[in-house]
Amino acid sequence: MEDKISKIKQNFEKEEGKISPPELRIKYLGRHSELNGLLHELATLSDAQKKATGSSINKLKKYIETQLDSLESLSDNSQPSEDFDPTLPGNKPQVGSLHPTTKVINLINQFFIYQGYSVYEGPEIETEENNFGKLNLPSDHPARELMDTLYIKQPEYLLRTHTSSVEARALTNEALPIRIVVPGKVYRNETENTTNNSMFYQYEGLLVDHGVNMSHLKGTLIAFVKYLYGEDVKTRFRCKYYPQVEPGVGLDIECPFCLSVGCMVCKYRGFIEILGAGMVHPNMLKSCGIDHTKYSGFAFGMGLDRLVMTKYEIADIRKLYNGELVTL
Ligand code: DAH
Repeated sequence: MEDKISKIKQNFEKEEGKISPPELRIKYLGRHSELNGLLHELATLSDAQKKATGSSINKLKKYIETQLDSLESLSDNSQPSEDFDPTLPGNKPQVGSLHPTTKVINLINQFFIYQGYSVYEGPEIETEENNFGKLNLPSDHPARELMDTLYIKQPEYLLRTHTSSVEARALTNEALPIRIVVPGKVYRNETENTTNNSMFYQYEGLLVDHGVNMSHLKGTLIAFVKYLYGEDVKTRFRCKYYPQVEPGVGLDIECPFCLSVGCMVCKYRGFIEILGAGMVHPNMLKSCGIDHTKYSGFAFGMGLDRLVMTKYEIADIRKLYNGELVTL
């Protein structure tokens, strides 16, 4: 009997891939199947043999059943139902896109990379020395007060309040000449509202070489502003104090919303300040170990968020960073 059972199993396995599952079901599990015939023969056996052989037969039946079930479910899935139209377009998966701030950073990087600058990075947790000390920020400067700065461990470690800290790093660690741009996050102890956030983005630039002067600064920044706002944009430089530069300037552009007629965006000034810049202060060069009699340079820093907000018509800065999906 056991021989017959294993023969049936062998035959089934041979035929499994060749005959369709419904036919196999009839042949191996049907009323006239060999297995069923064996069940009838059980009556001729002793009680002990009945038990052993009966269980072997049942085992094989179960095995064949599960094999056939899985074969049928496979062929069910691969057999498209009649109302399935494979030419219809599928469901589109939701695909993300670059963050508006990232897009603006890439756009500005493109300009400066073309001008020979490298994109440079620095840490967001900084030393007091890189964020303030080396930048000629005197210790009584209001930016050093707890009001503005978020300290990790007072007074040595803080969240950088501007990307200028990376200027100090580059000037200390890199070989001259230096030509870098630094996009990145900065942090200040701000009360959050529609235009202020305690985390925001800045974009910094630094060029140090022999014989760099103010005309290089003006030429570079005017070309940059034209790249960003168009050839016809009007620009204006104003004297401004920034501790890390001397002289320091603010660069304004004619308000692109009202063309200097006066509107809410420019607060009826006709111009908008877009960045701070200047000639790198000799004290800064000195504190980073550079001979200020041989080298000079210019630097600039700008906030990116207002630029992103006007470009993409986003009225609330918090919308940029609260993680909500927005379709632009
Ligand atoms: N660090 C300044 C700020 O956060 C911006 C700035 C001004 C950067 C003048 C510069 C610069 O590199 O030369 O407001």
